[in-house]
Amino acid sequence: MKVIRTIKQMRDELRSFRKLHPEGSVGFVPTMGYLHEGHESLLRAARNECDLAVASIFVNPLQFGPNEDYEQYPRDEQRDLAVCERVGIDLVFKPEPSEMYPKPMLTKVTVDQVSAGLCGANRPGHFDGVCTVVAKLFHIIQPDQAYFGMKDAQQVAVIMQMVEDLNMPVNIIPCPTVREPDGLALSSRNVYLTAEERQQAPVLYRAL
Ligand code: PAF
Repeated sequence: MKVIRTIKQMRDELRSFRKLHPEGSVGFVPTMGYLHEGHESLLRAARNECDLAVASIFVNPLQFGPNEDYEQYPRDEQRDLAVCERVGIDLVFKPEPSEMYPKPMLTKVTVDQVSAGLCGANRPGHFDGVCTVVAKLFHIIQPDQAYFGMKDAQQVAVIMQMVEDLNMPVNIIPCPTVREPDGLALSSRNVYLTAEERQQAPVLYRAL
């Protein structure tokens, strides 16, 4: 497994792969790291279904509001890389924010309507940040298939709309939510829950 930190190096790797395997498929799993079993199921799907399996680990500042948890978002590079290695990922793209955003971005990708309401109603600009980084990652990695968890159902719908509207040549594969035995959906942010909140959280699943 190679860990790649620059866009140029990523493009060089992909060019070499395409030269050696002109018909080979590239599967891509974008993540913000702090990987759990839910991510692992996406990584395994990409590994099993594609010739080259690529994951990205990037906590994307664009999708966090000014009062959100960008700084506190959990990070554990060593553990994440061990998970990717165990699953058999070929390339991990792990850029710094300065590599992805060397200058302030003047361009953003907005998907209207599908981004409104639900999560979008409480997090202004969140889906613009998600679409902008995912569009950049798709341009850098040029995957044939990209894997997203249905836990973030609105995100999947927004990404599918963006891909359709902009004719991006990538097949979006939504994958089932992975849950704790008591029904709580796995999420990197579950570490924020107090013991009491953790006990209460499965009520959401029972209500669904
Ligand atoms: O779902 C996530 O972890 C992020 O929103 C994504 C798709 C990796 C974009 O930063």
